[in-house]
Amino acid sequence: MKGLNVVILAAGKGERMMSKKSKVMHEIMGKPMIGHAVERAEELAPDAVVVVVGYGREGIEGYLKDTGVLFSLQAEQKGTGHALLTTEHLLKDGDVLVLYGDVPLMEGPTLRAFLASYEETGDITFMVTDVDNPKGYGRVIMEGDIIQRIVEENDATEEQKMISTINTGICIIPRSAFPFLKAITPDNRKGEYYLTDICTIAAREGKSVRGYRHNKALEVLGINSRKELLLANMAMKDRILDNLLEKGVTLLDRNIYISPSVAIGKDTVISPNCHISGKTTIGEGVVIGPNSIIKDSIIADNVIIKGFVSIEGTSIETNAEIGPFSRLRPETFIKEKVKIGNFVEVKKSILKAGAKASHLSYIGDSEIGSNVNIGAGTITCNYDGTKKHKTIIEDNAFVGSNTSLVAPVRVGKNAVIGAGSTIAKDVPEDALGVTRAPQKNIEGYSSARREK
Ligand code: UD1
Ligand code: CA
Repeated sequence: MKGLNVVILAAGKGERMMSKKSKVMHEIMGKPMIGHAVERAEELAPDAVVVVVGYGREGIEGYLKDTGVLFSLQAEQKGTGHALLTTEHLLKDGDVLVLYGDVPLMEGPTLRAFLASYEETGDITFMVTDVDNPKGYGRVIMEGDIIQRIVEENDATEEQKMISTINTGICIIPRSAFPFLKAITPDNRKGEYYLTDICTIAAREGKSVRGYRHNKALEVLGINSRKELLLANMAMKDRILDNLLEKGVTLLDRNIYISPSVAIGKDTVISPNCHISGKTTIGEGVVIGPNSIIKDSIIADNVIIKGFVSIEGTSIETNAEIGPFSRLRPETFIKEKVKIGNFVEVKKSILKAGAKASHLSYIGDSEIGSNVNIGAGTITCNYDGTKKHKTIIEDNAFVGSNTSLVAPVRVGKNAVIGAGSTIAKDVPEDALGVTRAPQKNIEGYSSARREK
């Protein structure tokens, strides 16, 4: 193709969303709709991508600032035809593919096939599809594959409303057809300049407008309401799950949320109700128990996650075991064969190979050496009310249950901490650190009390 511009229309408010923010900033599987559209556009390697903004433009421009897209301001939303015309000064040589910011499920191969078909004729081409329920869409009146007219829902007669061929919104406008755009008038119920009116104008001038059929109604779903937003989320989620199944991941249920940005290796098994998002990479042969939330984390091969865990910003190395009911917070590094058990919270800490914290602990701002045993109820007192301090426990140390480690503090290699201690001073290598008060037994105490 000699040159290609992609214009994405996204200036409308989207009244039917009943929302304060612009419609195209609503997310589908964790990414704003407009992000999906821009991704599809960029895959075509066009000479320019222009996004038409208006309502909520700050949000959209902020979100897209690191992409190479150009913005065209449509200050007043006078219709899709008007929106396209605002971009003229930003366009490079070549024809214009128009995408709608609220049609986010479109797939790359579909667009490439559409462009290829356009190249054969060079005619204005609209992508159309047949649907069971055409309500709300523009109805396409065709003879063979030539479009006579597209009638919007508001302007359609009862008879026209029965037409099940609808306009997906996606179209390609040759540059030579731009004069037709300028001839569009707002004489319709909504008083808008409808891009779709280019069909009647071109026909009047003896130019044919082609309808390209793409009969995958779900892919061209336009999002106008929260109900359609939910449908789109479910459809994209299913697509992601299907893709993982094809790559050799086992899913024990469809009720699993995985964002498109997540990579998962083969033979990993994921249980129901897991929510995995952000920049997360999961290796091969990992087992993830039910109700686990994992975000922005790296999980190596053969890790076992026993379920009901919350893991964020954490790196976990092979053969580690986490959970159930553990919480791993950002900047945590779990090395190989570490065990983190129930009701253990770890923040900004490293646990080296083979270390164990099996029950009820808080480990924050700490460095835990290899094969260290952290007893039940161990707490690092990392915060003095103003600053955070570090706890260092060297290799092979044994921390007895119910220990408070008042940071900054260091426990040396092979040291032992007696259960119930409050450790506020360093414990040297190989030593026993204990702060327990001596035990006093009062003989006959209980029977004396009963006699009173
Ligand atoms: C539009 C089409 C309809 C098609 C449907 C497919 C027109 C006139 N109608 O209807 O034939 O079946 O999409 O989903 O084109 N926008 C602007 N500026 C404007 C108006 C709209 O940028 O002045 C943007 C919106 O932000 C949105 C897109 O264009 O992303 C479509 O607008 P919308 O109002 O949702 O059109 P529909 O009524 O759905
Ligand atoms: Ca729409």
